[in-house]
Amino acid sequence: MNDLLNMAFWSLVMIFPAFVANSVPVLAKGKHPIDFGRNLWDGNRILGDGKTFEGLAAGLVAGTAVGAVAGHPLPSFLLALGALVGDMSGAFIKRRLGIARGRPAPILDQIDFVVGAIVFVYPVMPFSLEQAIFLVVVTPPIHLVANVGAYLLKLKPHPW
Ligand code: CTP
Ligand code: MG
Repeated sequence: MNDLLNMAFWSLVMIFPAFVANSVPVLAKGKHPIDFGRNLWDGNRILGDGKTFEGLAAGLVAGTAVGAVAGHPLPSFLLALGALVGDMSGAFIKRRLGIARGRPAPILDQIDFVVGAIVFVYPVMPFSLEQAIFLVVVTPPIHLVANVGAYLLKLKPHPW
């Protein structure tokens, strides 16, 4: 039991910069889409207006900064970058499925960033399989609570 709690606690501490990187972009109120407003051959946007350069920069800086303060700048930079690339990959998949920007894609919306972070940080700070599974399972409920909070604070137009 103690071992399990220890694993859960340290997994959440280690992934924290990814959560920061995924949360801060909404505050950036970005106006410059990373896909430059362009569509793919399927007629849908490559990523959509929800992925902006301002959000990317804000997430990268904030995620890296929290980990740098704790003395781990490289892993936190990779966690932040992975989270943001994971979120963009999620948006790319949603657009290919014809799901409009801001419309929900349950599970994908919640785990895209955490999977990206775990993959990107692997070379310098590998999570164990047990930790990775734990994080993928607990992230959706954490994300849901955080997004309902952000919605109630009027930071997000939808509670997802
Ligand atoms: N955001 C941003 N740049 C990013 C990521 C997020 O500007 N690289 C901002 C956008 O304002 C976005 C908000 O953060 O609307 C919340 O992100 P998310 O919920 O992932 O985007 P959605 O609007 O739901 O868009 P999508 O359907 O593409 O996921
Ligand atoms: Mg998303």
